Amino acid sequence: MIDINDSEWWRTAVIYQVYPRSFADSDGDGTGDLRGISQRLSHVADLGADAVWLSPFYPSPQRDGGYDVADYRDVDERYGTLADFDEMVDRAHELGLRVIVDLVPNHCSWEHVLFKEALAAAPGSPERSLFHFKEGTGPEGSLPPNDWESMFGGPAWTRVTEADGTPGQWYLHLFDSGQPDWNWDNPRVRSEFDTTLRFWLDRDVDGFRVDVCDAMVKAPGLPSWPHAAHGVVEPIDGLMPPMWDQEGIHDIFRHWREILDSYSGTRILCAEAWLPPERTARIVREGEMHQAFNFAYLSLPWDCAEIRETIATSLAANEAVGAPTTWVLSNHDVMRHASRFGYQGPVNLEAGVGPEDPQPDDALGLRRARAATAIMLALPGSAYLYQGEELGLPEATMLPDEVRQDPVWERSGHAIRGRDGCRVPLPWRADDVAFGFSSSPRTWLPQPESFGALAVDLQEKESDSTLSFYRTTLAMRRDYALAGSDLTWGTGRGESDSLEDVLEFRVGEVTVVANLSTAPAALPAGEVILMSVPDALTDGLLNPDATVWIA
Ligand code: GLC
Repeated sequence: MIDINDSEWWRTAVIYQVYPRSFADSDGDGTGDLRGISQRLSHVADLGADAVWLSPFYPSPQRDGGYDVADYRDVDERYGTLADFDEMVDRAHELGLRVIVDLVPNHCSWEHVLFKEALAAAPGSPERSLFHFKEGTGPEGSLPPNDWESMFGGPAWTRVTEADGTPGQWYLHLFDSGQPDWNWDNPRVRSEFDTTLRFWLDRDVDGFRVDVCDAMVKAPGLPSWPHAAHGVVEPIDGLMPPMWDQEGIHDIFRHWREILDSYSGTRILCAEAWLPPERTARIVREGEMHQAFNFAYLSLPWDCAEIRETIATSLAANEAVGAPTTWVLSNHDVMRHASRFGYQGPVNLEAGVGPEDPQPDDALGLRRARAATAIMLALPGSAYLYQGEELGLPEATMLPDEVRQDPVWERSGHAIRGRDGCRVPLPWRADDVAFGFSSSPRTWLPQPESFGALAVDLQEKESDSTLSFYRTTLAMRRDYALAGSDLTWGTGRGESDSLEDVLEFRVGEVTVVANLSTAPAALPAGEVILMSVPDALTDGLLNPDATVWIA
């Protein structure tokens, strides 16, 4: 059971992200579902996580994997029912796991009833004022109202056909055209979301991960911004773009915090905002959200100086506001870290990797991924894991183009492959149909053959497997109370000419040394209590691309 008196649980929690479509399928339709999650939750508890975060399972036409929500207060029939949801929450709580659900407040789906009503209503109507409907520019309004670009490519505006059949106003969508942005200046939007928060809090959820929360409020007048934004959004000439990180978001977060605080136990808000650490920290000030994802950390290459620098700036930025730092290496939006780190030298992976592209070196990628995980799980604060990383799953880079579902692929004119490669269904049993994910061999995305050898049932039996390594690492993180301890920097003791490339820091009683150089590195005195890979050491020296914990 969870301890509801533990009001600080989120400061050190390990939160495991479940992507419901790809976790476990209980009814054989090739798509994961809530019952499948309930049946397999013990895997997450055995791993040693404290909570699960579920990506959206709400009714949705799935234009963007469910981040296009048609009804915020129900379950999509593909995923089950509200009763299945309640059972899942009960099961999680029984296992000592808290449950965080995804709140998508920046935009809904074009199938949301309020957007359909807005489409049917006239320009200037109260129905349209729930969204950003504007007249076009240029001859007969045939050009978009401004120059904003969609995050998925192409203009951030789509023109509608009015009731009389004529081309009409345009509506704003920072993502797919199937994801109209809400107008948060309208009090009715605010009260809709209050109701949604209460709906799930009443069903006993322990918190919300808040999707693109930094885009909810737009600068008045929607001024021009001719720059596309990808990854962490940096200010340009000291100015944040008019669609990101506007002051008005903080009032909303403070209001939500009051709602959450009025419930029993400690329910949390975690911000998804691709901002630099010092901007992100403003969202976790006293009275606002509890946590924010550390995307500066997630975006790092396998580079010692950059890792050191980002750990330091992240800790400093969060300490200044009294919030815990979070750490994350993979999620459903980025290439899995076991593949991302599988390239020698700098590589641009923004367009994704397809069958025709240079492939990552799986062995190198996994070795570095485990070294990176051993760094991350020693750091003070809260850590997020993405389903499958505990198996060392690589990105599915050989997916044929015709199975791709991510809207990025179409909207970018097939220039950017998108995120399907990290969303492939999990392998549970090496010898079963769909590797135990589903009773159907037709999973919604095909699983690579290589997933079989990485199945949970095989890895459970192997003491050197990635799964065993994650379990041990999480247990030690807890035993040594690392997440609640302070970090101090060591010197880096490589024997090569690249002393700089050995990362060394101490958290509580544990010294962490990671060798990001190409030569073996000497270690400080003490007992090695954890190795990221079985061959981390040769003759007492730390081999390249390995991490050890010393106590
Ligand atoms: C967030 C989600 C991503 C989604 C986008 C639009 O970044 O993590 O999957 O596509 O928001 O909702």
